[in-house]
Amino acid sequence: MKLKDSQTFKNLARAFAGECQARTRYEFIEYGARKQGYKALADIIDKIAYQEFTHARMIYSFIQSADTKTIDNIEICTGYPFRQKWDLMDNLKFASEDEGVEAEELYPEFAKVAEEEGFHDIAALFRNLIKIEETHQNEFKRLYNQFKAGKLYKTDTEVVWKCPECGYESTSKEAFEICPVCQAKQGAVTLKEA
Ligand SMILES: [Fe+2]
Ligand SMILES: [Fe+2]
Repeated sequence: MKLKDSQTFKNLARAFAGECQARTRYEFIEYGARKQGYKALADIIDKIAYQEFTHARMIYSFIQSADTKTIDNIEICTGYPFRQKWDLMDNLKFASEDEGVEAEELYPEFAKVAEEEGFHDIAALFRNLIKIEETHQNEFKRLYNQFKAGKLYKTDTEVVWKCPECGYESTSKEAFEICPVCQAKQGAVTLKEA
């Protein structure tokens, strides 16, 4: 079967549209977080958004590996999430749920169909994406829970908080509100990576 005539071809187009939209929705979250002063949170979201771009790029490469001269327009008819409003906490929750749909429903189905149609490398990509989207799902869930509990900058044990602006570090259960060295605000503070 030629890729262009397969269901996998349409699934790739759906996945591409989904990844592009996820990226844009995460940039909305990133934009909101940054505006509210949650710089460290915004940086995490920004990294996830870039990973969705990379997913879209890889999927697009497979689409282009079909008969590229005659690919013009691919018709896809399906639903996409438009629930997000401008509330940071709600959007973290929605993002986690949307990742779950990709990881638990869409991509397993796309991988299965690709395997059945003989496109083993595309099936392998979808299987890898399942694992990655699961990590995104968990990351958004963690951020949502922390944000909701007011614990973005609080922990149960003493940890090292680091000001990424000047490098100052302090060990405590709660991050400093203002960096005593450079006066950066708490929204910029990160946990020191081990
Ligand atoms: Fe993705
Ligand atoms: Fe994702």
